[in-house]
Amino acid sequence: MVQGIANWNTGQTQEWLQKYVDDWVAFYRKHTNDGEVASYIPVLQQADPNDLGISIIGRNGMSIRSGDTEIPFTLQSISKVLSFIVACMERGISYMLDRVDVEPSGEAFNSIMHLEMRQVEKPFNPLINAGAITVASILPGKTSDKRLEPMFQLLEKILGYRPDLNVDVYESERDSSMRNRAIGYYLLEVGFLESDLNITLETYFKQCSIEVTIDDLARIGMVLANDGMDTKTGEEIIPRQVARITKVLMLTCGMYDASGKFATYVGIPAKSGVSGGIVAAVPPRVRDEIMPFTDGCGIGVYGPALGDKGNSIAGIRLLRHIANQWDLSIF
Ligand code: DON
Repeated sequence: MVQGIANWNTGQTQEWLQKYVDDWVAFYRKHTNDGEVASYIPVLQQADPNDLGISIIGRNGMSIRSGDTEIPFTLQSISKVLSFIVACMERGISYMLDRVDVEPSGEAFNSIMHLEMRQVEKPFNPLINAGAITVASILPGKTSDKRLEPMFQLLEKILGYRPDLNVDVYESERDSSMRNRAIGYYLLEVGFLESDLNITLETYFKQCSIEVTIDDLARIGMVLANDGMDTKTGEEIIPRQVARITKVLMLTCGMYDASGKFATYVGIPAKSGVSGGIVAAVPPRVRDEIMPFTDGCGIGVYGPALGDKGNSIAGIRLLRHIANQWDLSIF
């Protein structure tokens, strides 16, 4: 059973926190039955809907991992965070913000309707599909592999290894994603794309198919939590201002049309993907009482059963519980 509000003021050890998290994961695993695995990309349907895992990485090597921790999955929309970061690093922040806005759309991630209905001057933000496809068109490079190279290099720096592309997932999305093609043609028609549509879509489908684990997401979250700095080496991996804007976007747009609720009930910059991953960045915070991870942490969650907005259903509930128990909200 999930514990009531805990008194963390008793000298929390790693083992002690681990017991709580194990308990919470076991409890929220039952909530996976309330969601469904994504099926519009056929290969994603192969995921086990009852999987649930979490990895939390703090400073000084503090690490809590629980549940299904070893299952690889694809970044999907979480890649939009990385492509925006890389595009800002390659092209500059103002160049990017002239071409993608920083406003929540209040619509589904793959909405086309709002683009035409609201006669937008640029996509609402880089975390919806229209914005991410626009970003993919801006990344420098004549081939999709060249465009993705800076993203792989960034990932290699953060993770300590170069992740692979899941070719089955890539081909499955490439061959089924009519909606993204429709968005792409619309963007082409209104002049938002900066380069060839087919290479742009190939880039987008490939970035979505990069395979990671929850530990990788926690590492990415940890770097963002610290405004782009690798806390082990002190190296600035992502420019501070880029990391900050990215966290704003994660908070306001990272859960699509569920972002307001997530900000209210969880209060942490985070980004989801339809394969069931969530990356969350908990910045260092000041609290009167002793709370776990007050010096910040990165969190990776995997739970492929999704709610109606395309976010991991049990993953979000688990994050909400932990955020409340440990007072992780940035507000
Ligand atoms: O564009 C798509 O449909 C997917 N490759 C990514 C969508 C996604 O992950 C939405 N997130 N919840």
